[in-house]
Amino acid sequence: MNVAVIGLQFGDEGKGKIVDFLSKDFDIIARFSGGSNAGHSVVHDGKKFKLHLIPSGVLRGKIGVLGNGMVVDLEALKGEVEILLSEGIEPKLVISSRAHVVTSFHREVEVMEDELIGIGTTRRGIGPTYETKAKRVGLRMGDLFYEDMIFKRLELMTKLWGIYDDERVRREARKLHALALEFKESVKNTELWLNAAMDSGKSVLFEGSQAVLLDIDFGTYPYVTSSNTIVGGICTGLGVSPRRIHRVIGVMKPYMTRVGSGPFPTEIFGEYARELREKGGEYGATTGRPRRVGWLDMPLLRYATLVGAVDEIALTKVDVIYGMKNVPVAWEYRCSGENNTYPPYNFEECEPVYREYGGWDSIEDEEFREFISMIEGETGARVKLVSYGADRENTRIID
Ligand code: IMP
Repeated sequence: MNVAVIGLQFGDEGKGKIVDFLSKDFDIIARFSGGSNAGHSVVHDGKKFKLHLIPSGVLRGKIGVLGNGMVVDLEALKGEVEILLSEGIEPKLVISSRAHVVTSFHREVEVMEDELIGIGTTRRGIGPTYETKAKRVGLRMGDLFYEDMIFKRLELMTKLWGIYDDERVRREARKLHALALEFKESVKNTELWLNAAMDSGKSVLFEGSQAVLLDIDFGTYPYVTSSNTIVGGICTGLGVSPRRIHRVIGVMKPYMTRVGSGPFPTEIFGEYARELREKGGEYGATTGRPRRVGWLDMPLLRYATLVGAVDEIALTKVDVIYGMKNVPVAWEYRCSGENNTYPPYNFEECEPVYREYGGWDSIEDEEFREFISMIEGETGARVKLVSYGADRENTRIID
């Protein structure tokens, strides 16, 4: 049985923790999209690890796959490997030769462009790397073993961007070639490797990054990431048939957060927002930026579970609600005098209409059960996992 775990909101739902919890039952943990923009915080043996590129299941000794749909920053990857090694964990990695490579040029272009575009990206070179991929001038992991190939590709992309510098391109090419050699053993044709592993009975946990509402097609465009974060991304980002994805778990919080710009109709401000942010530790795992916070938006959740093809839900951070009397929930949107249960195309024309749910002080409370029933009723997905703290033990399976 192969399972996918994806985010249902704007990222930072606690996917890393859920993947870590589930990974003990899988042989392989495979990532299919994004790059070091993701930030998965996992507590392992009392220590907090922040992983950006490496699938969190490697902490349990599982094989981590970095699929062709990812964009790989080798310097960042090397840094993560070194941190794990210093803690006595030797990560087992398989990296796609087709994954595109983030270079210092991509990072630099992103900083310049985002000043103008204003998405508030993580500045990890993600957008420009998917851009060079789509433009067909990108550099892939497999190219890095040929120094002249690296040079040609870097020359082309920097000329197109108008930032070509012969000396710098040569230096970057040498650096990338040397870095790639350190990972040579891990670079493979992952689509063949992974399908063969599944044929031989190995189970795979597909680890999503970012979330449905940041998906390049279904998210709040243009305030999105540059890849498909929904389950469809597994097929294109790993070369896996949809028939091999047996169950999809969507991860969500009972409230919402967002990092960067873009619509967030249920956002709250002031003292109350500060309290929620502190209680939830809502600071970006990749950039340390304070996350914007707000209430659960049911139209967005209904939409995310639909396009996310979600079978089950993992509800995280439910302890952040402890002590709250009421939990406001945006039930629908009022647009030009009409109420809609799905989100509008243009949020500016609509107002969220709220309902209040009773707060809870423990996951045994009746109010918490009611909240779960409401989510199940509205999404058609069963809430199967509840997480109420950072430690692995603070996770409950609901039968
Ligand atoms: P990019 O993925 O760095 O291009 O950033 C695009 C948007 O997605 C920005 O609003 C980022 O803050 C957001 N984003 C990207 N990765 C994550 C994540 O892992 N968690 C939360 N937000 C993210």
